[in-house]
Amino acid sequence: MNTAVDNGETLIERAAKDIVDSHKTIALTGAGVSVESGIPDFRSAEGLWSKYDPEEYAHINSFQSNPEKIWHMIKEMMELVLGVEPNPAHVALAELEQMGLLSSIITQNVDGLHQRGGSKEVIEFHGSNQWLVCLQCGYRQESASLSFEAIPPRCPQCSSILKPDVVFFGEPIPWEAQTRSFEEARTCDVVLVVGTSAVVYPAAGIPTTAKQSGAKIVEINMEPTPLTGFISDYLIQGSAGTILPRIVEEVKKQIS
Ligand code: OAD
Repeated sequence: MNTAVDNGETLIERAAKDIVDSHKTIALTGAGVSVESGIPDFRSAEGLWSKYDPEEYAHINSFQSNPEKIWHMIKEMMELVLGVEPNPAHVALAELEQMGLLSSIITQNVDGLHQRGGSKEVIEFHGSNQWLVCLQCGYRQESASLSFEAIPPRCPQCSSILKPDVVFFGEPIPWEAQTRSFEEARTCDVVLVVGTSAVVYPAAGIPTTAKQSGAKIVEINMEPTPLTGFISDYLIQGSAGTILPRIVEEVKKQIS
């Protein structure tokens, strides 16, 4: 883990100070934040996209042309998420919010773990797998009520195939989530960018927007990303479940 000393302070101390001194801190999270809960990310060696080709499985055209095939992957993901718990990274971010030091979390994750970890202001940029929607008639139902006996599930109103309420490639970002996220980016002065490879736009543009408005960008990731050294002020290299609780601990010391 890199907690390198920079100007006499560790990067953990520096991040805590940046948060304490800020008037508004936000977080942008990605799949890396849920890895320690047991959900693989997308682009690491063991990630979901090493098993499933995203062009073949994550594009809306694929869903529409072969929903049965895509639903087998969705079923696997939904069953996995049902059996996992929030990890110390989710809990640390919730604690920062409770302390009045985190305005919102913009998450690309669809697993609902930030909310289960105690966070209230969560903007789900890529939707949520907690809900199923009918693209034909707009019917919605909670995924928890799904038995998975018949794949793909069908709409009880019009018999069309139901889709999880998550954003597939080729689909727009939910309007409200996008508008709120970029407003948060323009009005904050610190962004914690946690566990995202920052390659999928428009979400990956959020740190740049914040930076252009004068915000500090603090990355927490196992490895550098395209933001590192360009948009990020510094990278704290290591696992989110280790680094974030240490930052919260340090914040508590600094405000006591
Ligand atoms: P990625 O899989 O692209 O990136 C995960 C990032 O988390 C990588 O940079 C890893 O180094 C890092 N990471 C892994 N484990 C970590 C840990 N324990 N602590 C900290 N960092 C860790 O996932 P996302 O950036 O979320 O979109 O991917 C963005 C979007 O691409 C997803 O929302 C999804 C996907 O296709 C859609 O499906 C629309």
